[in-house]
Amino acid sequence: MRISKLLNTFFMYCSVLIILITAYYAEKVASENRVDSLVEADISLTGARLSDELYGSVRKTGEWRKNGGTSNQLEFTIKNLGKSGITNWKLLLKVPEDATVDSQWNVEVSNESLGDYLMFTPGQFNSTIESGDTMEFGAVINSKKELDPNNLHIIGYMVLSRNSFIKNSIIFMMIIWLVVFVGYLVTKFNLKNYQERQKNDVRIILQSMNTFISFIDAKDPYTRGHSRRVAMYAAEIAKRMGLPESEVQNIYYAGLLHDAGKISVPDAVLNKPGKLTDEERKTIQSHTVAGGKMLKQLSSIKGIRETALYHHERYDGTGYPEGLQGENIPLYARIVGVADSYDAMSSNRVYRRHLNKDEIIEEIQQGAGTQFDPDILKYMVDMINDGYVNVVKMETAENEDGTNDIHIHEEDLPGFYLS
Ligand SMILES: [Fe+2]
Repeated sequence: MRISKLLNTFFMYCSVLIILITAYYAEKVASENRVDSLVEADISLTGARLSDELYGSVRKTGEWRKNGGTSNQLEFTIKNLGKSGITNWKLLLKVPEDATVDSQWNVEVSNESLGDYLMFTPGQFNSTIESGDTMEFGAVINSKKELDPNNLHIIGYMVLSRNSFIKNSIIFMMIIWLVVFVGYLVTKFNLKNYQERQKNDVRIILQSMNTFISFIDAKDPYTRGHSRRVAMYAAEIAKRMGLPESEVQNIYYAGLLHDAGKISVPDAVLNKPGKLTDEERKTIQSHTVAGGKMLKQLSSIKGIRETALYHHERYDGTGYPEGLQGENIPLYARIVGVADSYDAMSSNRVYRRHLNKDEIIEEIQQGAGTQFDPDILKYMVDMINDGYVNVVKMETAENEDGTNDIHIHEEDLPGFYLS
């Protein structure tokens, strides 16, 4: 699979994951904001931590006679020790039935007693006691009877600080997105550099191959385009055999250079129209060993040397140069051997004209198991029957002005998918 496709798939999965996490937190925020918890505690004169959330106390800071009764000045302190604000709070103070409120600060006190209670509610600007905050307020209460400020009760509601929670969630999500996005950009940048380097490598290989092919073609004008056609047939066979793309590409290169050793064969022998002597035949056959030696240095591309050396081996062991048999002949060489023979049969040569389609199929099939690997041969026969070979011939045909653009380009490479 292409690396960029893998990366995009990875990024897609990350996006889905982040969306799910975001949805989870959004749901969490929404659900937690819906539930307020009731806070309730008693407050004493001495002051004490009353619950997980509240610390409270009340002090009597004044007492004087008024209207035949006693006025008590009470000061209250409430501290919110919880993690969230307390809102809608109110404080209930048990008072005698005749109690009235002379004055108050920071709170509103209902002047009418609710049965035995006075109700303290927050002033307009102090409705919420935020986490960690202290609220102080007070009142002067007049009564003819004794007031007991120990009998106090506060209730309120814990409300999560929505703004800060949502803000934190958004910041959290943005950090995750940022990390993923930066990671994606860095990976993409590295991949682009890697692809550029790879493309450059391919260009260098192609330029080297074009130079090689120019030498080979200059030696044998009758086989102009032969290398490129063999490479395309061989790569197509490999593709149809289900070999990985990297192997298909290597076989293409191996096909291009399979006859590199012909450079060492004298022109007079290579282009001789008549019958060859045994000596001349041996000279031509030596192009395999010569090619193997020449391409020994090109070890970075797998199979190139072996293909040049063994592409004239026969499946039954009667080929040259070593008489290898069956699967002892390297796979690339067996594939290129089939492609090479097909191209020889379908091209005009100095010693004969090309064969027609039926003749080729007949001759090729006669070689199954003797000259050719039968498992490879069937793909070549398929390519003849379904017309693929004609496409190759059209693509490698000479131009009308006599020039022949036989040299290979990046787009010719099978499996060349760098974009
Ligand atoms: Fe050859």
